[in-house]
Amino acid sequence: MPERLRALLIAPPGAGKGTQATAICEEFGVEHISTGDLFRAEVAAGTALGRQVAGYLDRGDLVPDDVVLELVRAKVIDALERTGGYLLDGYPRTLAQAEEAHAIGVQMGISAHAVVTYEVPRDVLVARLQERAHLEGRADDDDLKTILHRIDVFDRETAPVLDYYTGLGVLIRIDANRPVADVTAATIAALRAVVGASA
Ligand code: AP5
Repeated sequence: MPERLRALLIAPPGAGKGTQATAICEEFGVEHISTGDLFRAEVAAGTALGRQVAGYLDRGDLVPDDVVLELVRAKVIDALERTGGYLLDGYPRTLAQAEEAHAIGVQMGISAHAVVTYEVPRDVLVARLQERAHLEGRADDDDLKTILHRIDVFDRETAPVLDYYTGLGVLIRIDANRPVADVTAATIAALRAVVGASA
């Protein structure tokens, strides 16, 4: 029985992680887990966790690592039980998260087959997020200062995570400054090359 896809999407704000995740999950029959969506749902529901993380999200800062790991671990195990795979979007975002995820993944035999990153010029990221602010009204798209801060946080905290996965030999870089369908096709082709046609 071939293995189902286990993959991570790590890319800057506005690069298209959420947009691409739906098509990838449909293609590979796995579950989409977005840490950003999970946190926004907690905030909207007014839970204790939501109250704890709301300020971080509004400012465009990262939620503390220990809070993230607790949430992600349970969701990944659920997804694996339901679909045999996962597509994790927005995690890990720090080297500490990556090292912890790798250790757990190896221990449990559930490490990601591949890590996809989307490359988009900074000015295009900003334009996409400003456009989305009109369409969706997300609090962290609200002003230019917060958008730029989120991109800076990515460059400072998360870009080193990409080097970490390059070192593990699993990073796939995709040019995402082109139409959505082209990015989808490139992503699916690259992931098929890793997990095989029947996954
Ligand atoms: P998260 O929800 O992950 O937000 P983000 O990384 O800022 O990413 P976005 O959702 O803004 O962008 P995206 O890449 O998904 O792009 P999208 O497809 O929407 O995280 C939010 C917050 O949660 C963080 O700031 C942090 O506080 C917290 N958090 C989450 N994970 C954490 C972690 N692991 N550790 C600590 N804290 C964490 O596309 C954007 C727009 O562009 C859309 O309008 C779309 O239609 C458009 N678009 C997409 N692709 C294209 C294309 N190819 N051409 C033209 N337009 C396009």
